Amino acid sequence: MSFVLLAGMLALSVPAWAAPDPLAPSGRWSANSDGHAPVPPMGWNSWNAFNSDVDEEKVLASAQALVDTGLARLGYRYVNIDDGWWLKRRESDGRLIIRTAHFPSAATGPDPSFRPLTDRLHAMGLKAGIYSDIGRNSCGQIYTPDFKNQPEGSLAEREVGLYGHVDQDIRLFFAEWNFDLIKVDGCGVRGLPADAPRVRSGLYRALPPLVDMQSLGGSDVAGVRKLYTEVGEAIRRHSHGRPYVYSLCLWGAGDVRSWGKDVGNMSRTSDDIQPLWGRMLTNLDTVTHRALYAHPGSWNDADMLFVGTGDFDQQHGVEARSHFSLWAMLNSPLIIGYDLRKLRPQLLAIFGNAEVVALNQDPAGNQAVLAYDSGEVQIFVKTLADGSKAVALFNRTGAARDAILTADHLKMLPSSDVRLRDLWSKEERSFRGETKMQLAAHETRLFRVSGDRRLADGLYLSEQPGRINPAVDGIPAPLPDPTIHPSITPWVGTRGGGEHVQYGGWGGAEPDRAPYGKLLRVAGKSYDTGIGVLAGSRLEVRNAGFSQFAAMVGVNDSGRRADGPVVFEVWGDGKLLARSAAMRFGAAAAPIKADIAKVRIVELVARASGGTRTSAMPQPATWAEAALLK
Ligand code: GAL
Repeated sequence: MSFVLLAGMLALSVPAWAAPDPLAPSGRWSANSDGHAPVPPMGWNSWNAFNSDVDEEKVLASAQALVDTGLARLGYRYVNIDDGWWLKRRESDGRLIIRTAHFPSAATGPDPSFRPLTDRLHAMGLKAGIYSDIGRNSCGQIYTPDFKNQPEGSLAEREVGLYGHVDQDIRLFFAEWNFDLIKVDGCGVRGLPADAPRVRSGLYRALPPLVDMQSLGGSDVAGVRKLYTEVGEAIRRHSHGRPYVYSLCLWGAGDVRSWGKDVGNMSRTSDDIQPLWGRMLTNLDTVTHRALYAHPGSWNDADMLFVGTGDFDQQHGVEARSHFSLWAMLNSPLIIGYDLRKLRPQLLAIFGNAEVVALNQDPAGNQAVLAYDSGEVQIFVKTLADGSKAVALFNRTGAARDAILTADHLKMLPSSDVRLRDLWSKEERSFRGETKMQLAAHETRLFRVSGDRRLADGLYLSEQPGRINPAVDGIPAPLPDPTIHPSITPWVGTRGGGEHVQYGGWGGAEPDRAPYGKLLRVAGKSYDTGIGVLAGSRLEVRNAGFSQFAAMVGVNDSGRRADGPVVFEVWGDGKLLARSAAMRFGAAAAPIKADIAKVRIVELVARASGGTRTSAMPQPATWAEAALLK
């Protein structure tokens, strides 16, 4: 027998002198579950529409438009004030002072307050969001020469960021001003080394950078994580039980893609989106391979929507619908970045497509998984709470492309009818086996799908990424993800050799794929479902009433023959339930099973088990056909 099924009470005996086991199961879900983001937050933000030229009239007009158009009822509730609201930090007591010339209702005496504005938004049934920076200074101060509404006054008065004021500012934002969301940017810990021109000229104080967008190795990952964690703790203290959203804005730097899920409710995976097709691709690509790193409570944020502007304006309905469809499928927060005073029916029909919004807001919280991938066409599949699916067929190119959708992509039976409902045209049709469609340039065809599931009595793990947390993903050192489209950025153009931003996360755990862009394959046999991860990993899986776990385990064929074997363990609420033999490269996958009837958290541990190691990369460990069964 190639697997052991233990009775569920076996405890490993650990000698007292042994170092703590980094893969020790905890029996608990360790990704962030504080704050309130059971589904991706939705709403509006001032930045894409107005940059720092934000004022009360613009904010309230957009809020009113959300209510009047019915978008608020669809879920667009957060109204977020981005950079540009602050006047200064008062020197006598460190209190932040609002630019009341732009926010007249905040002129409440010597201590300006956003409370009248947040009260008003709350009375409209909306929620209110504010913006700050983790360093001493804001992005506008550091990076933009002609930024409107720069903080004013002395050097100390212009230090409007959280650094050194975390408790005071968070108390002000949440306990006094009653905000419901905070976006915390990271420019202050990125752009103020001692030799920065604005430091040398005496404009700002130096702060040794913690993140370097061009160097993962040069970033202090633990240091920047600590700062963001402290802010999260302060929000918990000062929100007094009110629901809140903590939005991290570190643009994929400092390897935030691996830890953002443990700290905040949503976390930016990339630098700023622009109203450009190529840039939308870049931002999309930073979340595509990260389905396991997003769950109810903590979402990958591909940045705010640019629907309505530039390459996604009224004249570019195909592109606008693609952008929106993809953000919905990938569970990116749907935050409108358009001046809603100008909203026309054509755009409202996009933001207001209830069936598309429903995909994003589906309570299962499964980010869509890549079923087919090329630089030209991608097929994304999302499993919904009721067991049905959605599929997006996306043409990245500027010319028409054929795409074949198969029942296998959907993990549905090829022998029965698969029914498709087009969520844009509302047409319905069905197919068996496979169907071919033509995608216009830049088009996304988006369907709700029902049919007979291949696994009738359970769910594959890769169909439920929202219930899986890669608590330890085994990546020995962060590496940049080479699959991300390198776009021309407006701020650099084609000057120099290109942007070379280092988005970490390459080699992470992935549904239906092995790490480093490889397919699931063990001893020559390919698997189209499973979880690919590195040895030295521990996955936490929330069990929603299933009674059995089953998988085929082995070293992926993308590993190395000369390297040591991998042992696979299944734990239930902290107890070892099953353990595989030591699986060598080239050995056929072996079955592993465990009874999980009363288990809440299943943990899947893959351990390197001695032997040689010829590479810095651990062996890739494959949980093929992994499933929870009734
Ligand atoms: C950037 C951030 C943008 C916007 C801007 C404000 O760092 O990514 O979304 O907030 O700062 O200056």
